[in-house]
Amino acid sequence: MATSAQTELFELLDISGDDAAECSTLLATPPSAAVLQAMAAMQERLGTFPLDSIQASDASETDWIEALLRFAPAVHSYHEDLGISPMVSAASLGDVGLQLRINRRVHGVFGLDTWSWLTHHMAGNLFRLGRLQFHLVRNSESTDQHHGSAWELGVHIPEDGGLSPALVDASFAEARGFFSRHFPDKRVATATCDSWMLDPYLVERLPDSNIASFARRFTLDRCTDAPTDAVYFTFRQRGLQGLDKLPRETSLQRVVLERIDDGGTWQLGHGHLAL
Ligand SMILES: CC(C)(COP(=O)(O)OP(=O)(O)OC[C@H]1O[C@@H](n2cnc3c(N)ncnc32)[C@H](O)[C@@H]1OP(=O)(O)O)[C@@H](O)C(=O)NCCC(=O)NCCS
Repeated sequence: MATSAQTELFELLDISGDDAAECSTLLATPPSAAVLQAMAAMQERLGTFPLDSIQASDASETDWIEALLRFAPAVHSYHEDLGISPMVSAASLGDVGLQLRINRRVHGVFGLDTWSWLTHHMAGNLFRLGRLQFHLVRNSESTDQHHGSAWELGVHIPEDGGLSPALVDASFAEARGFFSRHFPDKRVATATCDSWMLDPYLVERLPDSNIASFARRFTLDRCTDAPTDAVYFTFRQRGLQGLDKLPRETSLQRVVLERIDDGGTWQLGHGHLAL
């Protein structure tokens, strides 16, 4: 049975049902040394602007879930100190609950194989504003494309229904106001995106889709091989085994599988746009 503090935490992180029950069990006993170490690693990064997530650690996946649960209130307070609304903070931290639900679909059990991704959120600089997430980071490359600014926004697309151009426009408009208001000394002029959705093959094959419309907003800088990303994000399956058993109901499902059937390799497109 969750305590009232836990109920509030689970609401903040959008955790419900069986995941809430499992999380409640994790919080019922004092944190282990591994959990405390994971929390200390997040504390060190809070309020700094690290480009990378925490990737390797002695803590197990379950330790990381517990550490994320225990640490999230500190991030919420940090947001509050910056004058960020509780709603935006909750929308941003709610990715924890979404990732737990996705993990259940992928693996059929409670877990969080994407715990590393969530360590970005715990540094306090990744926000969900409308349909998209925006991550404030230092420029990865110092080229003219950044218009002299030392900062940029990494754009991410959480799973949450359709990606209509109107939703994307509104999200970018909100981001422009949000970052100049809350981070006035970190002027951003550019947004970047690294995603399977920017693979030019998709724009070519599904030109009228929301995905293509999103991809066309970005200038494509380069592509790198990412053989499993398109399968993971379309089917929520890790790896390329048993592809013949996957459904071919939507145009995207067919395009993803047919390219692999033809011997092709899905790419990660790296692109940028001016805000
Ligand atoms: C990105 C996303 C929101 C796009 O959804 P959308 O707006 O419905 O996409 P589109 O309208 O462009 O879809 C075109 C076609 O692909 C299908 N499609 C889109 N996303 C799909 C998915 N995840 N699984 C299966 N089919 C999908 C649509 O149903 C449509 O099919 P149809 O032509 O047969 O009607 C969705 O794919 C998603 O949630 N992906 C997971 C998150 C993700 O990939 N993030 C980026 C990580 S780098």
